[in-house]
Amino acid sequence: RQPIIAIDGPAGAGKSTVARQVATKLNLVYLDSGAMYRAVTWLVLQKGIAIDDECAIAELANQCQIELTPTQDLKFPVRVWINGTDVTQPIRTIEVTSQVSAIAAQSAVRQALVKQQQRWGKKGGLVAEGRDIGTHVFPDAEVKIFLTASVSERARRRQQDFEKLGQPEVSLEQLERDIAERDWKDSTRKISPLQKAADAIEVQTDGLDVSQVTAQIVNYYQQ
Ligand code: CDP
Repeated sequence: RQPIIAIDGPAGAGKSTVARQVATKLNLVYLDSGAMYRAVTWLVLQKGIAIDDECAIAELANQCQIELTPTQDLKFPVRVWINGTDVTQPIRTIEVTSQVSAIAAQSAVRQALVKQQQRWGKKGGLVAEGRDIGTHVFPDAEVKIFLTASVSERARRRQQDFEKLGQPEVSLEQLERDIAERDWKDSTRKISPLQKAADAIEVQTDGLDVSQVTAQIVNYYQQ
């Protein structure tokens, strides 16, 4: 089997950018698991299903067809489709971001999406990024990284992301509050909470740029 590199960590730690670069460097496929939870959230909102209607959401998660295709586009490194609709841009809005943790906490949703991720990872050859990749989705991954940064650094990065995406400006205070709230929701949920795997290497990224973090991970992989 080809290797799997699992990169987990909280919102805004730089997982997407780093994971994509590591994948390019090592010629592996990049898997953005968060995009899948975002896509289901988008569909729930679009259909007007209540966030706490776990039954209806479970059905949706089990029946939906998600496709991810890596691109060369720096702004949108993966194109995301759900049931044939391209949701690459709408899954990054504040509306989706504010509801995604509640959807991702539902066990039926996780079961459905994890099953899909494991199917994609059967032959290995992935850099998979998320919250539960090293602990739950691919516990046998060859390399496990837990990427962190302070809340203020992560809010600053998120603000830059929004700017690049041409989204309305959000204050740093608001972003810090949102990130802290999502951290709390992701790490206190009952099922597969955000957690550093016992055998993961923690990489603290405050003050490091993407190429430095990428180089560190490639280095761990090659050791
Ligand atoms: O990029 P960002 O850190 O904002 O988040 P993301 O990776 O797009 O993930 C969005 C949300 O999906 C997270 O806040 C989690 O609630 C959920 N998620 C999860 O539960 N498990 C994963 N493996 C990936 C994401």
